[in-house]
Amino acid sequence: MKRDIIIAIDGHSSTGKSTLAKELAKALNYIYIDTGAMYRAVTYYALQNDLISNKHFDKERLIKDLDHIQIDFKYNPDNGIAEVYLNGQNVEKEIRQMRVSNFVSEIATIPEVREKLVAQQRKIGRSKGVVMDGRDIGSVVFPDAELKIFMTASPEVRAKRRYLELLDKGEDVKYKDVLENVIKRDKIDSERSTSPLIKTKDAILIDNSRFSREEQFNKVLELAKERIHKAKS
Ligand code: DC
Repeated sequence: MKRDIIIAIDGHSSTGKSTLAKELAKALNYIYIDTGAMYRAVTYYALQNDLISNKHFDKERLIKDLDHIQIDFKYNPDNGIAEVYLNGQNVEKEIRQMRVSNFVSEIATIPEVREKLVAQQRKIGRSKGVVMDGRDIGSVVFPDAELKIFMTASPEVRAKRRYLELLDKGEDVKYKDVLENVIKRDKIDSERSTSPLIKTKDAILIDNSRFSREEQFNKVLELAKERIHKAKS
């Protein structure tokens, strides 16, 4: 009998979590869920409704508005990705912009936001057969996940990767600003009081400053197959 598992991929920003998670989901025929995209969609909502800027943040209003923020994933067969929709609008492209990256960590510190998104993530993962990436998947969302991976790399390696990605998308950014953003997000993600980014004891550490993408994928796929086999017996 086939028994599906939950694979939790956590770690620092721009460590290639989503690339690995997507490839893994494809190889195993699992669903891939990018939980960072959900925090980004809430941030995009806050920006569009003028609730946050460098000068102000109307946190109370955002908390009040949470009941009217509907986030969905819809599978796009053309690219094989479950794309993010905010109140019915596809925001997959908008949520990757630098202006969203600049505020998302702050939005992700709000307990009410986390509560709403974690509940939705648990619902999605209930039937297993899912690869979920984020910051608190193995620690909070699915502490019993059968396979937990924690990814990291030096801030410089990660900033370079992000910088090239943004340039590729046509954004006018400076490497220095991207590095600053990576370091700032690490600090907020790791030091926040609700669900900070931590490596749980049972998570397998992958430092991808030292491994190629292919090596990482092969290693994690092998681990996943082992855990699936174990779950069956
Ligand atoms: O993975 P990402 O860079 O798209 O995530 C965006 C932000 O969302 C990140 O700075 C931290 C936050 N996040 C979180 O707090 N918990 C998650 N499960 C996923 C993302």
